[in-house]
Amino acid sequence: MAKTARLAVYPGSFDPLTNGHVDIIERGLRLFDRIVVAVLTNPSKQPLFRPDERVAIIREVLAGQSDVEVETFDGLLVDYVRRRGATAIVRGVRVVSDFEYEWQMALMNRHLEPAIDTVFLMPSERFTYVSASLVREIAALGGPLTGLVPPVVEARLASRRQTSTVRRV
Ligand code: PNS
Repeated sequence: MAKTARLAVYPGSFDPLTNGHVDIIERGLRLFDRIVVAVLTNPSKQPLFRPDERVAIIREVLAGQSDVEVETFDGLLVDYVRRRGATAIVRGVRVVSDFEYEWQMALMNRHLEPAIDTVFLMPSERFTYVSASLVREIAALGGPLTGLVPPVVEARLASRRQTSTVRRV
């Protein structure tokens, strides 16, 4: 009997994609046949990049990875995961302080949909201190981002900064 491909959803804001996120995607692909990177369209915070820009950036960074799909989602994550026919949610946990929030979300999602499990993956130690919010802050202040984000993201952040500097002048 043919085995169904194991599909997982990796949800997040990805504003912007960091090398830590890419590391989690690569680790996820060792466990799952396919991963859908799902970009949340309606975060409570004011985003730096629009959802469609984030999707385009992630697609460019992961170009050539046929086992990764990138799209936006809104509404309840478990509804989206069910719609996609996936059985697992992948989340990265860097440090103990991440865990409390992740634990609560995982249990709430399991309460909402018992058939869907959350799989926590640890990124490489090199990325334990990398977060999208710190990347945004460093980018806004003109600091170096090499090694923290993929070159595509670095270039997009640099041009975003230039545009906003020009606008301010
Ligand atoms: O990268 P983030 O911002 O930590 O990702 C958070 C995300 C997108 C995973 C979370 O906000 C989410 O799942 N939002 C969708 C709405 C939802 O299902 N909320 C209930 C979660 S228990």
